[in-house]
Amino acid sequence: MDWDERYSIDEYLFGKEPAQALLRNEEHLVSGGTTLVIADGEGRNSVYLAKKGFKVTATDNSIVANQKAKSLALSENVEVDYKLEDFFEIKWTEKSYDNVVGICFQFVPKNLIEPVLLGLRSATKKGGTLLIHGYTPKQIEYGTGGPKDKSLMYTKNTFTNLFHESEIFKLEEYEATINEGIGHSGRSAMIDFIGKF
Ligand SMILES: C[S@@+](CC[C@H](N)C(=O)[O-])C[C@H]1O[C@@H](n2cnc3c(N)ncnc32)[C@H](O)[C@@H]1O
Repeated sequence: MDWDERYSIDEYLFGKEPAQALLRNEEHLVSGGTTLVIADGEGRNSVYLAKKGFKVTATDNSIVANQKAKSLALSENVEVDYKLEDFFEIKWTEKSYDNVVGICFQFVPKNLIEPVLLGLRSATKKGGTLLIHGYTPKQIEYGTGGPKDKSLMYTKNTFTNLFHESEIFKLEEYEATINEGIGHSGRSAMIDFIGKF
């Protein structure tokens, strides 16, 4: 997928408002904590969190998204440390955040999802929160956002296979109608994972 091309439109592909999944789960984040937002795109989630007083670092590898995110932060008068970097080259173990937030980063091949999730856990401080939101395989039937490849979707097993029961604070599959720009719109089959370590 050429994200720079997708983002090269005047409007914000997923809108400027935060993901519904972030709103429904933000109470579980360490309030005001250092927060890494991965695959942040055009900044709707990082800017929202910065406005709520979190100290936010956000990462994505799309230069167009990076520019749009910076301009959103500027217009909202908040500071976010935006990093233009390839997800697969980040050394997660060298990071340390109170919160790690991943909303719809549904591009990790099946053979890499476990090391990636473990990496994200290692980037989360003890006492911190890892929030992951994505689509389940049923989303393919809806076709209202996300990739067309079932193997990139998450199921509960994606998380229960990897995390200890005591680390899984919340794991919920659900359906809802979302309206998040032209990129995510309509009935959707989703999953939220919250890990606390
Ligand atoms: C579905 S969008 C979600 C954007 C954002 N999380 C949101 O909710 O608005 C997926 C994002 O993953 C980013 N992405 C895809 N492959 C990447 C990679 N290898 N490294 C970093 N970011 C990547 C894309 O640029 C895009 O912004």
